[in-house]
Amino acid sequence: MKVTVLGGGNWGTTVASLVARRHDAMIWARNSAVVEEINKDHRNSAYLAGFDLNPKLKATDDFEQAVRHAELLIMGVPTGAVRETSANTRKLIRPWIPVVSLAKGFEQGSLLRMTEVIREELPNHPVAALTGPNIAREVMAGQAAASVVATPDLAVARALQQVLSSGLFRVYSNEDVIGCELGGALKNVVAIACGMAEGLGVGDNTRALVMTRGLAELMRLGVAMGGQATTFAGLAGMGDLIATCLSPASRNRSVGEKLGRGMSVAEITGGMTMVAEGLKTAVTTHELAQRYQQDLPIHETIYGVVTGSVDPTEAYRGLGPTPGHENEPG
Ligand code: 13P
Repeated sequence: MKVTVLGGGNWGTTVASLVARRHDAMIWARNSAVVEEINKDHRNSAYLAGFDLNPKLKATDDFEQAVRHAELLIMGVPTGAVRETSANTRKLIRPWIPVVSLAKGFEQGSLLRMTEVIREELPNHPVAALTGPNIAREVMAGQAAASVVATPDLAVARALQQVLSSGLFRVYSNEDVIGCELGGALKNVVAIACGMAEGLGVGDNTRALVMTRGLAELMRLGVAMGGQATTFAGLAGMGDLIATCLSPASRNRSVGEKLGRGMSVAEITGGMTMVAEGLKTAVTTHELAQRYQQDLPIHETIYGVVTGSVDPTEAYRGLGPTPGHENEPG
C-alpha cells in the first residue's frame, strides 16, 4: 500500500519508518534539510538524533506529490497545523481514502478534537486516531510498544491495524474515538504536573497521587464529553498517562520539570524545536471543564501555572480532594 505521512517531527518520522518496512511509504516535511537528510542519510537528526530510519522511506518537500501518492494518509503535523494541512489536501487527495490523525490535542478556540477537525475539512474520508503510550525514541529503538487505532468503523480499524502494526509495535482497536482522543490529549497536562513534581523534588507518593488523581480527572471530563470510562483504563488513557508522566524523553513532562525549577513558559518554549501540546491543552481543558461543569483541580492548577497566575511552588496545594469528589475513584 502507498502510505504518506504529513509532518517530519519525531512521531511522524517514527510511524513513517515503521510503515516503510512493508509498504511504499513517503514522508512530507516542510524543511528541505530534513527531507535531504532522510533521503541521503536515512536519518532525521533534528527530531530523532542517533536513530537510523528505514532506508526504503522516501521524503519530499513537495506537498502535492506527497498527498497524491497516498492510499492512506497519516496526519503527523502538530495540532495547530492540522486544519490548514487537511484543507490543503482537499483538491489533491484520492477519493475515500482513510486519514489517520497522530496529534494529541485540541484545536484552540473551537475546542474540537483532531479527528473532528479533519472530518470538517475532509468530510468524505474515514478518519481515525492513532494514540497510546508511544514515546517515539523507544519505538525507534525497537522496544515492544502498543497503540490504539480509534475509529467507529471496524472494517477500517482492521485494515489500519494491518498497515500500522510492525514488529514489536502492536496496534489494538477501539470504537470509542472520543475517549481515546481525550485520553491522549488530556494526559499531557497531567504529565506537565508530574514533571513539575520532579522539578520540585517530590517523592513517589506525590508522583502516584498526581498520576492517579490525574487519571480520575481524565475520566471525569472524558465521560462528561461522551467517552467510555473503560477507555481511560486502557492504553489510550492510563497507558499513555503512565508513559508520558514517567518518561524523561517526554516533552510535556520536561516542560513541567523546567516549570518546577523556576523557568517561565516563555523561557522554556523559546529553547524548544518541538511542540509540547500540553501547554495549549491546559488552556483548552480549562474551557472544557467550564463548559461541561467538571471540577479538575490538577488540570486547573496547571492552567494557573502556564498562564502565570499560580506559582509552581504553590501548585501542590491545589491537589487535595475537591468537595464532591472525596470518594475514590470519582
Ligand atoms: P511528548 O510529551 O513527548 O509529546 O509525548 C507524549 C506522548 O503522547 C507519548 O505517548
